[in-house]
Amino acid sequence: MANTMPAMRPAVPHFSSGPCAKRPGWSLQALTDAVLGRSHRSKIGKAKLKRAIDLTRDVLEVPADYRIGIVPASDTGAVEMALWSLLGARPVTMMAWESFGEGWVTDVAKQLKLKDVTVLKAGYGQLPDLSKVDFSTDVVFTWNGTTSGVRVPNADWIPADRQGLTICDATSACFAQTLDFAKLDVVTFSWQKALGGEGAHGMLIRRVRLLDLLKRWAPPIVIDRHRRIIDEMIDPPIEQPIRPRRFFQSSNDVGHAFLTFDVCNGPVPVRTSVTSSAATSCP
Ligand SMILES: Cc1ncc(COP(=O)(O)O)c(C=O)c1O
Repeated sequence: MANTMPAMRPAVPHFSSGPCAKRPGWSLQALTDAVLGRSHRSKIGKAKLKRAIDLTRDVLEVPADYRIGIVPASDTGAVEMALWSLLGARPVTMMAWESFGEGWVTDVAKQLKLKDVTVLKAGYGQLPDLSKVDFSTDVVFTWNGTTSGVRVPNADWIPADRQGLTICDATSACFAQTLDFAKLDVVTFSWQKALGGEGAHGMLIRRVRLLDLLKRWAPPIVIDRHRRIIDEMIDPPIEQPIRPRRFFQSSNDVGHAFLTFDVCNGPVPVRTSVTSSAATSCP
């Protein structure tokens, strides 16, 4: 096949795996009501956090039986929080077709040292055979491999009645592709990708039924607070009456990098500067 130069060029030619370009029309004006020098536990800080979570639910159409949390350490923090807290109860299938997927394989095999791990890998530009995935195991995969540009076509290859969990690094897919949440038990992303926000914060969206698993499953390793998922710290389903809304526990500055949370229906600039090691709750 002859390679021809694409006729259509990107409007912003600074391609990288992130941070991505700001949304059209973004300017520094978006930061005029940034919350500077305030704790993320302050009333205004909590309101910003709550708004970011609520907008995430609205825009991504996250089902009511999923909880949304904001976590430190960007998408990496969100994925690793899920791996460290949830894996180990069952055998695991790790799928990788670019560098970040391979990073999760290293996490699970070399850092967590889980024994019963099947790795399904494909080279750059390829997908592994999706029909080979055993869904009686917990399955970890990247929806859209940023560095290779290869993504899964849809979630049809994931059975609805699977026994294992599906943990999906969707950092380059959220807000860019439609995600079939019913097939995904954990979905992660960071603001620096499709939202064009700053790095540092991750989003962890997870099915409520994982709570059952968490109550029964105690990972056989010491988990630092940074990586623990604690059920009382998750926001409630949206249709429930408003009650104290809680977030993931963070061992670093939850507030510090809440710089911008821009979505197309309006900028929500947030900035706080206080570091903390405790849970955050919203009124
Ligand atoms: C597929 C994928 N997963 C994870 C990451 C890590 O994201 P972050 O830097 O937000 O932790 C990236 C970053 O480029 C990525 O492309």
